[in-house]
Amino acid sequence: PPRSVLCLAGSLRRASWNRRLLHVATSMAPPTLRLNVFDALSSVPLFDEDMEQREPAGPAGVQALRAAIAAAEGLIIATPEYNHAMPGVLKNALDWLSRDTPEGEVLLEKPIAVLGASGGPWGTRLAQASLRQVLHACGALVMPTPTVFVANATVRFDHKGVLTDLTTARSLQRFLLAFDHWLTRVAPPASEAQP
Ligand code: FNR
Repeated sequence: PPRSVLCLAGSLRRASWNRRLLHVATSMAPPTLRLNVFDALSSVPLFDEDMEQREPAGPAGVQALRAAIAAAEGLIIATPEYNHAMPGVLKNALDWLSRDTPEGEVLLEKPIAVLGASGGPWGTRLAQASLRQVLHACGALVMPTPTVFVANATVRFDHKGVLTDLTTARSLQRFLLAFDHWLTRVAPPASEAQP
């Protein structure tokens, strides 16, 4: 069966380039991967240790995200860049997810790939660097390469949000094949695991 991969965009914006990029990815994934886009990041409240103490499993929105990640074999995160870093909504969600719960630490040893799109010329380089730093702190297994920095996003999608730029489409395809390979390397199916 194909491996299930959850896709998360670090933006709440309805016409988010990053979410569009993930939807394009779902349609071009190799047959060995099944991608699903998580679309309820707005249900994750601001992290608060007092709230955590009252509800150790976290609020409903956090539980839903945590369960979706736990059920998936891998995670792909598309991050926008806000002021040379990842947006607060994404950092906030990762802070919730980084916590140990009765179900365990959901990001620990989770295979993750990161990419991002922005309207500017650098294509989220610094946001992805900040995201990688945080994911390493959480013990995730972040794919080192290939990188995908979608710069000047406004000219790579048409007005309907369809990705029209062939170079971006090709690098997205290469990225997905590499993530499939990364999953095989870091999380082999149970039957292939070393005794
Ligand atoms: C931005 N944007 C931006 N772009 C960039 O390339 N480097 C940056 O540092 C910033 N900083 C920044 C700060 C804030 C507060 C906002 C709102 C925006 C532009 C940003 O990349 C653009 O809005 C993207 O379209 C956001 O991603 P989504 O929502 O389209 O996925």
